[in-house]
Amino acid sequence: MLSVPFRLARRSIGSAARRVPLAFAFDIDGVLIRGPEVIPAAQRALRFLDGHNPLRAKIPFIQITNGGGELESVKVQKLSKQLDFPIYEEQFVQSHTVLRKLVAEYSNKPVLVLGGKGDTGRRIAQHYGFKDVYIPLDVLAWQPSVWPLGAEFISPSDLNIARRADFSRTPIEAVFVLHDPRPSWFLEIQVVTDILRSQYLTAAAPPPKLVFCNPDLLWRGQFPKSRLGQGGFREALMGVYRALEGKEYPYKMFGKPTRETYDFAKNLLRAQLGSDLTHTRIYMVGDNPESDIAGANAAGWHSALVRTGVYDPAHGKPAHEPTFEAEDVDEAVLEAFKRECGPEPRTP
Ligand code: G3P
Ligand code: MG
Repeated sequence: MLSVPFRLARRSIGSAARRVPLAFAFDIDGVLIRGPEVIPAAQRALRFLDGHNPLRAKIPFIQITNGGGELESVKVQKLSKQLDFPIYEEQFVQSHTVLRKLVAEYSNKPVLVLGGKGDTGRRIAQHYGFKDVYIPLDVLAWQPSVWPLGAEFISPSDLNIARRADFSRTPIEAVFVLHDPRPSWFLEIQVVTDILRSQYLTAAAPPPKLVFCNPDLLWRGQFPKSRLGQGGFREALMGVYRALEGKEYPYKMFGKPTRETYDFAKNLLRAQLGSDLTHTRIYMVGDNPESDIAGANAAGWHSALVRTGVYDPAHGKPAHEPTFEAEDVDEAVLEAFKRECGPEPRTP
């Protein structure tokens, strides 16, 4: 059972009389922030949840993002600073948080991880409990000719973080795509297709498991039009593999809208409320119908689709129907509160 810091538990339970039959799950990109920008409605909504409402109750909430690329502890620190509102790790799920489910099976097996700056991906995987972790840069350090253009993009100092290994004798058993690969997809697509096609090994080995942690083709940052997400990398990688092998490579998906991510989130809410959720209506507030709304619908939650991110009503009806649409997160919170707690949403 997840332990919940006193401040968070205290925050959520309040006095029994002021317990509200309502809890929220917030998406982050396109709902609370757009890159470095905080969406103004976000701070109004957080204040409302923090007791500035007619019931003067603290309303429980968690955050579920398909973002990632850093340790949860680092991410919540940055988010708390950006939002000027305390966010705790116990109320936060990011794209690769659920990868912990695979530690039991792969903790002592060689795995390749992608995403995050430098070797952040390796450190995240090690933090979860994976002990034998490689990154594409390790392969380049082993044989620079693996990527003929490498010298143009990767400086010798970049290779200082590389882990030395002989990949002709290191059968990678799983490839985990934690977050958007950087600096370029080229090295990652070369190395991953090589490993899926056993291009380095001198002896046969079973095909590695392939896992993506975020299906989003598009997401909303600071630029006024949605940007390519990890889903874009998946399409590119799978496209190259198909061109090489004439067939699909099977993969496992985590992140919203997958059941694993929503189940993990549900457990965080249960822990925060210290009880089951039968008497609590959960509202997911998101900007992406494919991930936020589809996942909430499948989890049996209510959902609010906002217009501050990916979703644009000018492009037609959303692919997944929300409980209601709202201009922004503040309007969504007020509407949900009105539906569950009565007509007068905002404190006078
Ligand atoms: O890379 C992040 C993006 O895919 C979406 O993040 O917070 O909207 O789930 P979020
Ligand atoms: Mg979003």
